[in-house]
Amino acid sequence: MANYLNFINGEWVSASSGEKHEHFNPAKPSESIGFTEVSAVEDVEKAIEAAKNAASGWKAMSSVNRGEILRKAADILEERADDIAKTATQEMGKRFVETKGEALRGAAILRYFAQEGHRKKGEVLPSAADGTTLLAVRVPVGVVAAITPWNFPIAIPIWKIAPALVFGNPVVWKPGQETGITAAKVAKVFEDAGLPAGVLNLVLGRGSVIGDVLTTHKDVSAVTFTGSNAVGQNIAKLATAGGKKFQLELGGKNPAVVLADANLDLAARLVVEGAMKQTGQRCTATSRAYVEASIYDEFVEKVIDNAKQITIGNGLQDGITMGPVASKKQFDTVTGYIQKGKDEGAELLYGGSTLDIDGGYYIEPTIFGNATHEMTIVKEEIFGPVVALMKVADYDEALEKANDTIYGLSAAVFTNSLEKAFHFIENSEVGMVQINGETGGAEPQAPFGGVKASGQGPKEQGQSAAEFFTTNKTVTINPFAK
Ligand code: UN1
Repeated sequence: MANYLNFINGEWVSASSGEKHEHFNPAKPSESIGFTEVSAVEDVEKAIEAAKNAASGWKAMSSVNRGEILRKAADILEERADDIAKTATQEMGKRFVETKGEALRGAAILRYFAQEGHRKKGEVLPSAADGTTLLAVRVPVGVVAAITPWNFPIAIPIWKIAPALVFGNPVVWKPGQETGITAAKVAKVFEDAGLPAGVLNLVLGRGSVIGDVLTTHKDVSAVTFTGSNAVGQNIAKLATAGGKKFQLELGGKNPAVVLADANLDLAARLVVEGAMKQTGQRCTATSRAYVEASIYDEFVEKVIDNAKQITIGNGLQDGITMGPVASKKQFDTVTGYIQKGKDEGAELLYGGSTLDIDGGYYIEPTIFGNATHEMTIVKEEIFGPVVALMKVADYDEALEKANDTIYGLSAAVFTNSLEKAFHFIENSEVGMVQINGETGGAEPQAPFGGVKASGQGPKEQGQSAAEFFTTNKTVTINPFAK
């Protein structure tokens, strides 16, 4: 059985703990996928040291040439997309079409940031002093710790690592432990693209053991994290105390507002897709829908029709439209929420049960109706294939309830009213708004991230990536000074 090592200073090395983590397929938990070696704090310290030593050489390389390496990585990732996608599906259950799509998205992100190496790195400003040149130049921030989740094991790491690298920073990457094998394969892509030793280091292991050292080490300058709110808050506290920059992409409780004038077929299809894609394991998943009372019954019928089309099974099988959840832990959490929904009196419209296929962690697409604002399933992030539908009197009530949450990642409105669409754009308290679209999705050229408890720090991707992965240096040049 394959055993995957840590990647430190350009070498694949054993973890000093001597401990191995075995990976099992959530579609068939009796099937072992392989092992990853579990890093101890000592390994992370070595990785940070390697990154620190690589920093000046990497920074000295022109950003155009750094971008060339990313472009090579994009080509290699594309060549290996089938293999890496298959591994990701076996590790965390997401369908092969989804993991393959993610690998291709990873290549697109690499190409976008490769091109960023050709773009401006600062501004020339007028100076009040005669004969003086005043510049604001973007310079690398320093060693970056990237802590990434298991739910997008290919794309999320790349959308942190690619900008970190092109803007001149070395990286220590800690992926979600569940997807360590996929991570090792992604790190190998960067190695084979010709990245110098120490510029990207991979440490595999538990966040509870090695997360804090990544966030507090004196030689780490910036921490970028995607994951749970609890871990994110701890990182914010530690990074603030240590004077480090941080970028947090946390949970969501993304609403869809469905108005009476909307194309209801479209809205029902996209609410179901938004909720069930990746088995609901996206921070951008649609998890509550506010539906105008006059069309509620008709909408419910259409939602159920869409849910009925979903076929559940092993994500490597053709024709399957929903895989298992990623782990026993996810399975227990999500089924716990479904039980709470029932106990608190929501109407179970569809699904709600688990399925025993090869002992895998399968949960039916679950639609609750007549949910109320106070219910747990309406308030808390579930991260599973569950959506709650609510009847509202009108748009105003929908907007008020959509905003009444600690989260603020993404929101959708389905309407043909220009007025309401624009009102929603202005007034929904989120980082990303979709008009007649599903709540999920991201493009590398656009900023990604939320407000309120959904995120802190500069947004990811697009031009805002430069804000996080560089710092401004103001330069005054007095060539004629006497
Ligand atoms: C998407 O919706 O395609 O963890 C991207 C997540 C987000 C990424 C979502 N950070 O689900």
